[in-house]
This record gives sequence, structure tokens and C-alpha cells, in this order.
Amino acid sequence: MEKTSQIILSEKSVKELRRLENLYPEKKSIVLMVLHVVYDQFGYLKPAAIDEAAGVVGIPPIDFHQAASFYTFFPREKVGKYHIQVCRTLSCYLRGAEELVDYLIEKLNIKMGEVTEDGIFSLTEVECLGSCGTSPMMQINDTYYENLNRAKVDSILDELRKKAKSG
Ligand code: FES
Repeated sequence: MEKTSQIILSEKSVKELRRLENLYPEKKSIVLMVLHVVYDQFGYLKPAAIDEAAGVVGIPPIDFHQAASFYTFFPREKVGKYHIQVCRTLSCYLRGAEELVDYLIEKLNIKMGEVTEDGIFSLTEVECLGSCGTSPMMQINDTYYENLNRAKVDSILDELRKKAKSG
């Protein structure tokens, strides 16, 4: 496959893609790793960046788009600086995930799948995140927040909002 010229991927991303390119004898083994590179740079799977990354590593873009549609842990649209993913699977559901979601919707004043006007938070529901014993829980970017209640949610959001505003 012909290599595309770099347009939107950062030098750091391209360097990482080049490192991955010949890591395994089966080229397609790196598909998820490549998606991680795109996600790390943009905070979601920007379609044009996937196409560009596919060109860099020499794998057809369709392979990445198919994987991207399968793995829900990769946001496929622009998300907030802090992307909130609330688990809605059984343990969390039985321990109040639904109320938690309602509270977040009310507090952030957005609908599921939306980003707050200031771009700080986005909200989505996901399936089990493997932390069932500490339900209800949510993941914000790479961090798990567990045994949640309204007071904990308030303090988590306040802290993150402060962090976002201080730079
Ligand atoms: Fe929520 Fe498993 S059910 S983390």
C-alpha cells in the first residue's frame, strides 16, 4: 500500500506507528495498538487520523474502522476533556447505576452522548468495566471511580472542573 504523507498525525504518533509497523510477523496484529495511538493523540478515533495511520503502517483503513466499531471503549466522536463512562451492567445497575446516570445528566445538563458546553465533560454508558465488586462505578479517562454516591460524584466533578480550568 502506498504511504500517505503526514497531515494530522503528530510526529510522536508517527514515530510510534513506525515502531509498531514491523513488531509482529502478522501485520494486522497491531490494529488495536494503532487505534490507541490515534486515541492518545486526539482523545477519540478521528476518522481522518485512522486513515492516515493506516497509510503509515500499510494496512487497509477498513480493518481499523471495523475494529473501531467493535470496541466501544474507544470513543468515535469528539469527547470532553474528561470523558465519563458509567457502567450500566448488572452489578452496577442493581446498586444504583441508573440513578447515578440520572444525577450526572441533571448535574452536567447534557444528554447521554453529549459534551458540556465548556467542553470539560462528556457522558456515555458502557458495559461492565470489570469492577463489579465496587459498584456503582464509572471510568473517567483512565481512572476508575468506585462505590459512587451523589456526594462522591459532586466532589469528583468539582475537582476535575477545577483542574480543567487551571490548565
Ligand atoms: Fe459494573 Fe461490572 S457490572 S463494573
